[in-house]
Amino acid sequence: MNLACVILAAGLGKRMRSSLPKVLHSICGIPMIQSVLNTVTTLRPQRIIVVAGKHMDRIQESVEAGDVLFAHQAEPRGTGHALRCAAPALKGFRGDVLVVNGDTPLIRTRTLREFLRLHQKNRNILSVLSFIPRNPAGYGRIVRSSDGEIVSVVEQKDADIRQKKITEANSGVYAISHAALSLVEKIPLNRARGEYYLTDIVAGAVRERLRSAAYCIGTEEEFMGVNTRAELHRAAQLMRKGIVAGWTAKGVDFIDSGSAFIDAGVSLSRDVTIYPHVCIEGRTRIGSGSTVFPNVRIRDARIGRDVTIKDSSVIEDSVVEDGASVGPFAHIRPGSRIGRLAKIGNFVELKKASVGDSSKASHLSYLGDTDIGKGVNIGAGTITCNYDGSKKHRTVIRDGVFIGSDSQLVAPVIIGEKAYIGAGSTITKDVPAGALALSRSPQKIINGWVGTKGRRTEKKR
Ligand code: UD1
Ligand code: CA
Repeated sequence: MNLACVILAAGLGKRMRSSLPKVLHSICGIPMIQSVLNTVTTLRPQRIIVVAGKHMDRIQESVEAGDVLFAHQAEPRGTGHALRCAAPALKGFRGDVLVVNGDTPLIRTRTLREFLRLHQKNRNILSVLSFIPRNPAGYGRIVRSSDGEIVSVVEQKDADIRQKKITEANSGVYAISHAALSLVEKIPLNRARGEYYLTDIVAGAVRERLRSAAYCIGTEEEFMGVNTRAELHRAAQLMRKGIVAGWTAKGVDFIDSGSAFIDAGVSLSRDVTIYPHVCIEGRTRIGSGSTVFPNVRIRDARIGRDVTIKDSSVIEDSVVEDGASVGPFAHIRPGSRIGRLAKIGNFVELKKASVGDSSKASHLSYLGDTDIGKGVNIGAGTITCNYDGSKKHRTVIRDGVFIGSDSQLVAPVIIGEKAYIGAGSTITKDVPAGALALSRSPQKIINGWVGTKGRRTEKKR
C-alpha cells in the first residue's frame, strides 16, 4: 500500500514562551520534529511532507531529512488548515496519508505500523489513533455513539461537562485515504476559535457515511504532546529513561541511571561504565571497557576502548584513542586527538592539538594548535603561545621530546626529535633534534646574604 506522511509543524507554539520554534526544541539532543521524522522515515513512505509556517526556513535548516517536501502555511489557522496546505505536495498521490503532529516526539514506529495495519485491514477511509491518558485535560476527546462507533472529536475548549469526562483522547495521528482528502477542504471554520480543526474531519466523514474508526493502541507516554516547557521536560525524562534502559540491556553499567544524560544520537559499547552526573551528547561514541567518572560532559567525540575519563572533564568534537586517560578537570576542545595510552592530566587544556601515542601532559598546561609526537613528556605548566594578537600559529613537538616544567613555546616553533627543553624556558626559535635548549637566566648565589645591610634596607621599605 502506498503511504504518504504529513507532519504538522506550523503552529506558533506560544505556550512554550520561546523565540525558538516549538518543534525545534530538543529532546535528548534531537529536535522534536527530527524525532518524528526519524520515526515516520522507518515506515518507508513514498512522500514525507512537513507543513511549516513562519519559521519554515529555520526548520528546513535544522532538520536532516533526505527527500522531505516542505509545505508552507502562511498563517497558523489551525491543524485542518495546515493539512490543506499540504494538498499541492500530495497532488497525484494514491494511497493512505498518515498525519502526525510535529510535537509528539515519543511516538514509536511499532505503534504507527499497527495503526496502519488496522486502518488497511478494515478498509477504512479515515482512522484516528486514540489513547487513554491518566489526565486527558488539554487533549481532544473521542466521542463515540452508544454502540461504540466514533462520532466526532471534540476539543477540550469546546467540550461540555459530559464530554470532558471522556477519558479516550485524540493522539493527533490520523490515516486518511487519498479518496477522502476532499473532506479536508470541507472542514468548517470553528468560529469561536477562528481556526479550522483537523479533528472536525471525523464528524465530516461520519456525516458522509465513510468508513471511520478510532483505534485505542499504544501507551500514554508515546502520545504525549509537547505544548509547554513542563511537558518538554517530562517528555525528555521519558525519552532519557528509555535510552538508559536500552544501553543497560546492551551491557552498559550506570552507577546512577537517574543522573545519566545520554543523547539519542550517542553510541555506547559493552562494559562501558558511567558514573553519576554525566552528560554524553550529540554523536559521541564510546568503545568497550571505557569508564566515565562523575561530572563529565562529552560532546560529538569518539572515545576508544579502555579509556578513562576522570571527574569533571569536558571533551568536545575530539578523538581519544584506546587506553588513554583524561582528567580530572581536563578541557579537550574541538579538533583534538589524544593517542593510544596517552595521558592528559588535571587542569590541562587542549585545542586543535594532536597528542601522540604514550605521550603525557599530566598537569596544568595549555596546548593549542599543536602537534605532539609519540612518547613526549610535557612538564607541568607548559604553555604553547599560539596567538600573536592577530594570527594563530602552530607548535610542533616531535617524538621523544622532554619539555621541562613551566616552559613557554612561542609559535610558530618546532622542537626536534628527542630534544630537551630546560624547565622555565621561553622558546622562540626552533630547537634541533637531540639538543638541549635553555632560556632562563642563570641562577645567582649570594652567600651569607641573610643578615647583611642589603637585606635590612629591603625590610624597612
Ligand atoms: C491537537 C488536537 C487534539 C489532540 C492533540 C494531541 C486539533 C484541533 N487538536 O491539539 O485533538 O488531542 O493535538 O497532541 O488538531 N499546527 C499547524 N498549524 C496550525 C496549528 C497547529 O501546523 O495552524 C501544528 C502544530 O505545530 C503542532 C500540531 O499542529 O505540531 C498540533 O497543534 P497544537 O496547537 O499543538 O494542537 P493541540 O492543542 O495540542
Ligand atoms: Ca500539541
